[in-house]
Amino acid sequence: MDFEERIVAPDMTSMDSDIEVSLRPKVLTDYIGQEKAKENLEVYIKAALSRGEALDHVLLYGPPGLGKTTLAGIIANEMNVNLRVTSGPAIEKQGDLAALLTNLNEGDVLFIDEIHRLNRSVEEVLYPAMEDNALDIIIGKGPSARSIRLDLPKFTLVGATTRAGQLSAPLRDRFGVILRLELYTPEELAQIVTRSAGILGIDIEKYGALEIASRSRGTPRIANRLLKRARDFAQIRGNGIIDEDSADYALEKMEIDHLGLDNIDRILLETMIKSYNGGPVGLETIAAAIGEEAVTIEDVYEPYLMQIGFLGRTPRGRVATPAAYEHLGLAKPNTQITF
Ligand code: ADE
Repeated sequence: MDFEERIVAPDMTSMDSDIEVSLRPKVLTDYIGQEKAKENLEVYIKAALSRGEALDHVLLYGPPGLGKTTLAGIIANEMNVNLRVTSGPAIEKQGDLAALLTNLNEGDVLFIDEIHRLNRSVEEVLYPAMEDNALDIIIGKGPSARSIRLDLPKFTLVGATTRAGQLSAPLRDRFGVILRLELYTPEELAQIVTRSAGILGIDIEKYGALEIASRSRGTPRIANRLLKRARDFAQIRGNGIIDEDSADYALEKMEIDHLGLDNIDRILLETMIKSYNGGPVGLETIAAAIGEEAVTIEDVYEPYLMQIGFLGRTPRGRVATPAAYEHLGLAKPNTQITF
């Protein structure tokens, strides 16, 4: 299966863009979960507001689909400023970033998604902008080149990344606030699903929401996507109401098991177990064996498999845990089969 088509892919796809925006909470009190990040952020926002200052630069990191863009929107909204959204790969040249920065108003939030993918020369423009609200422009070439400094409005950079480790140290050090987002619990996801169903006018029962939630890999984007598909099944094959049974039916049809694993997760674990004796096996080896990119495995598949205790990362490679064997109905190594 192509990753792009995977219903449990946490990346934003065209399947999500239309409704995701309408489902995004606009204020911190409507944002469910991420209690630690939320609690601290609330303090920083209130403090900055009461001092009449721009919020310090914020780095959000964690697996995809957990609501980093949503949080950036909430920050802008709570600070009563505009939000400008871009991404690391979209800013190709220094001039692209200069154009963005010079168009900001006082206090605005500039959100850069996938900030670890900014190229070095663009990053260098960001340093004085973040530190001194200044833009250094080089005029001319060779020995007569000079640098002039333009003042920028005070702004808040909100950077998001799935890989904090890949950020250069000078960039990371310029963020005053670093918040790590965690995978959501099924209870939190059930609240999100119920809230989304309310907004979309979908009839859902408590155990229907919990069924979807517990099979959404800790990720709101996946939960909201599965909610829409479960509605389709409930409408065409059921009575229009998503209850536990109709949710279960829909998820079965989509080949998502009780823990939210799809075929690719199962292939990954089965390959580790059957071809590599459960590991330790190197990430690149697994990637080659199942035909996925190593970064995709690391960022997308592994966080959830680790959270549910199916996979471990060791210095010698990845290992499948006994719980993974059990879930797949495979015999553990060194187990005697008796007849
Ligand atoms: N939709 C997506 N993420 C959400 C969250 N954390 N809280 C409420 N609704 C959401």
